[in-house]
Amino acid sequence: MKIDGAVALVTGGAQGLGLAIARRLADEGAIVVVADRNADALALLPEGLEGVSMDVTDPVQVKAAVAGVVERHSRLDILVNNAGVIFSEPFVNLMNPAGMMHDYGRFRASLTVNLDSVFIVTAAVVEHMVKRRTKGAIVNISSISAQGNEGQTAYSAAKAGVNAMTVTWAKELGRWGIRSNAVAPGFIGTDSTRQALNEAVLKHIQSNTPLRRLGEADEVAQAVIALVENDFINGTVLDVNGGLTI
Ligand SMILES: NC(=O)c1ccc[n+]([C@@H]2O[C@H](COP(=O)([O-])OP(=O)(O)OC[C@H]3O[C@@H](n4cnc5c(N)ncnc54)[C@H](O)[C@@H]3O)[C@@H](O)[C@H]2O)c1
Repeated sequence: MKIDGAVALVTGGAQGLGLAIARRLADEGAIVVVADRNADALALLPEGLEGVSMDVTDPVQVKAAVAGVVERHSRLDILVNNAGVIFSEPFVNLMNPAGMMHDYGRFRASLTVNLDSVFIVTAAVVEHMVKRRTKGAIVNISSISAQGNEGQTAYSAAKAGVNAMTVTWAKELGRWGIRSNAVAPGFIGTDSTRQALNEAVLKHIQSNTPLRRLGEADEVAQAVIALVENDFINGTVLDVNGGLTI
């Protein structure tokens, strides 16, 4: 797909990886709409990026916001499902006086924000793509944790679900020329990574990574661009992890 002139929606694009992806798409000439629930961060978006307030877990809000984007720009070509929240909790925690097993409410909450959200937003967007015969591109931001990260039952399950939906949609939507792919970042040097993992864990990860470093947000953004641009890539989950999983 030619990115220049295309209309793109990036969820969770007010900061972190989403912002890097939004900037890259804009640099390539796309009209970029950033959807996020963080109004303060949306207010600080760099010039050239359009902000839309939306909670990706609320189907009513999402439907209205997506319809607004299509109305304003008369089309929607690219969807990047990036919004998500990294979440860690051991399945068994002998030291927790409140109960040793993973809390079910937090499990559900992590699935809602990391998995249901991708279903909700994609359903709203694909409805417009199919009706308008748009040969669109969907890129889901998955994670290395889809392969099973210790201490991340809920987050890993959610991202494995994202990979499964990515492939399912690649098969179902191909007949309309809509492609579905995912990028699975490893450990990227973002604020969210540094909040989730302490220095010792990060050092351990780096020494186990063949490239001996964390990734950069822009390297994830470059992978998104490649998947959008190449019209014959469909149903791929592209690892961007410095070789950590090989
Ligand atoms: N940072 C990493 O190393 C890393 C690695 C693998 C995968 N990922 C994935 O990349 C994506 C972005 O991660 P990040 O590190 O940039 O996170 P981040 O916390 O820096 O940014 C996430 C953005 O999503 C928004 N968001 C969260 N919940 C939302 C909701 N319900 N509705 C609307 N917006 C919402 C937040 O406001 C924020 O702007 C996530 O899906 C994450 O799981 C990140």
